[in-house]
Amino acid sequence: MTEILVIGATGSVGRHVVAALAEGGHEVRALVRDAAKAVLPAGVRAVAGDLTAPESLEPALADGVEAVYLMWPGLPVEPRVIELIARHAERVVYLSADVADLADDEPAVIFHQEIERLIRRSGLAWTFVRAIDFAGNLLAWAEQVRGGVVRWPYGRARRSLVHERDIADVAVRALTEEGHDGGRYVVTGPEALSHAELVAIIGEELGVRVRWEELPPETARERLTAAWGNPAFVDSRLRAWESFTREPERVTDTVQRVLGRPPRDVRSWVRDHAADFR
Ligand SMILES: NC(=O)c1ccc[n+]([C@@H]2O[C@H](COP(=O)([O-])OP(=O)(O)OC[C@H]3O[C@@H](n4cnc5c(N)ncnc54)[C@H](OP(=O)(O)O)[C@@H]3O)[C@@H](O)[C@H]2O)c1
Repeated sequence: MTEILVIGATGSVGRHVVAALAEGGHEVRALVRDAAKAVLPAGVRAVAGDLTAPESLEPALADGVEAVYLMWPGLPVEPRVIELIARHAERVVYLSADVADLADDEPAVIFHQEIERLIRRSGLAWTFVRAIDFAGNLLAWAEQVRGGVVRWPYGRARRSLVHERDIADVAVRALTEEGHDGGRYVVTGPEALSHAELVAIIGEELGVRVRWEELPPETARERLTAAWGNPAFVDSRLRAWESFTREPERVTDTVQRVLGRPPRDVRSWVRDHAADFR
């Protein structure tokens, strides 16, 4: 029987991919580093493997894997992983970000571009699910929400955050249906909402009082660098948010086109994650 291997099966999107595939009656193998610790839906087989040791993926891929869901957890890129997938499977669906295609000799700005290029050259059938920022990023505000004030820069930055389950649903279609080969699917939420509006929505859905307070970008830079430890990443986020005060982050019709229904909105995401804020 053909099976689907899910890499990153316990991750923020992968866990929904596994659940949706299992609900749909597909045979699923879930790649985890520690099979004893992984919490997976009933009937899903955990298989051990580590992306930093490509050969460890051989048993997970052997004997009947037709399609692979791949995510890359920010590790150094390991071309051998793509080679192994191509040797065993026919199709890969890669969780990417909203990146531009790279020409053959162009250096990658971000690792997703490098992995996409390896996949394009691999001979596999492929679909890139290029996700806009996950709504899960809102949990960065959880502690401040509990304190009643969210202090953050660029209150007027309009973002089209996407529910992780929508990303997973699109990936599942690409894994299980014909017609998605070569798709570069930019997946977004249904609308672009400002940071200040997002805080108001969180308060309304949780039934708590929480207000927005504008943080000057330079103060934000210091605090976020201390918290995240990656000045280049902080810089790129601040630049993006500033740009979204002038031009809202884009909204695509990918979810509607692929799934035949509108994307889930941020309100539904907050309701789904109410416990995570408390
Ligand atoms: N966050 C966003 O807004 C956003 C937006 C666009 C794209 N993305 C991309 O989405 C991807 C997922 O990001 P995330 O932050 O949400 O991470 P995540 O899915 O929560 O990452 C954790 C997952 O990675 C697996 N993993 C970690 N190291 C591994 C290794 N050495 N070998 C095998 N599996 C390993 C973990 O498996 P175990 O069960 O073994 O721990 C777990 O399933 C990233 O590539 C990110 O760039 C994120």
